[in-house]
Amino acid sequence: MVDRVGSDPQYDVFADEFLEHARDGLYNAHYDRPACLELLGDVGGRTVVDVACGPGLYAGELVARGARVIGCDVSPRMIELARQRVPAGEFHVHDLNERLGWLADASVDLVVFALAFEYVDQRAQLLHELRRVLRPGGALVLSIPHPTGDWLRQGGNYFQTRVIEEVWSGGWAVRYWIAPLERTCEELHEAGFLIERMIEPRPVPAGADVDTERYQRLSAEPTGFLAIKAIPDPRRT
Ligand SMILES: C[S@@+](CC[C@H](N)C(=O)[O-])C[C@H]1O[C@@H](n2cnc3c(N)ncnc32)[C@H](O)[C@@H]1O
Repeated sequence: MVDRVGSDPQYDVFADEFLEHARDGLYNAHYDRPACLELLGDVGGRTVVDVACGPGLYAGELVARGARVIGCDVSPRMIELARQRVPAGEFHVHDLNERLGWLADASVDLVVFALAFEYVDQRAQLLHELRRVLRPGGALVLSIPHPTGDWLRQGGNYFQTRVIEEVWSGGWAVRYWIAPLERTCEELHEAGFLIERMIEPRPVPAGADVDTERYQRLSAEPTGFLAIKAIPDPRRT
């Protein structure tokens, strides 16, 4: 059994396909992004770091809403796509297993970290880094695969944190961590965050026209994603 995901840019080979899939598809455009954008709230005039930004789908939306966006991703192709799509953004090729040395302490209003925590081995270090760069009053919005869905697909011990390998439709081979919800919550707590909200989103109604069967499933089963808004705990500086 492998016990690390590693730092090779898994998404690089299918970055363009991911963009096609995630731009208007059910899971990203009609389910994950609406949930996280709602948790982020008004971003006008705010500095938002888009962690594991992929091809800049969040970044584009955030810039359109008036934010200053700094994005990073380990995949050079993803960063190329993000730069093309969102010229107003600032993007870095960066492995999240490494410290965010290019961001000063308390320099960021919001962090969005969508659907990528599961690829990072240095989970605790990364959350500490996100806590460090956030201003007091800032917030981290994190979305992850719903642990129940992971467990239903993978079976075994729900409480065992482990690396799994899957091949998704399109032939995308991926390796990532699965962990019980408690673990993610504890990691946030240990890094100095306070969970303000935790939501189990349902797809937005327009998603029904995109993929009726999956729309109905995501509306009824905890097999998709969940999203957390966490704030720097003011009691712990
Ligand atoms: C499912 S995509 C999500 C992209 C984007 N956040 C979104 O929701 O549209 C996962 C992203 O995580 C990035 N990623 C995976 N491991 C990473 C790492 N160690 N450091 C930085 N980015 C990573 C991938 O390259 C990919 O762009």
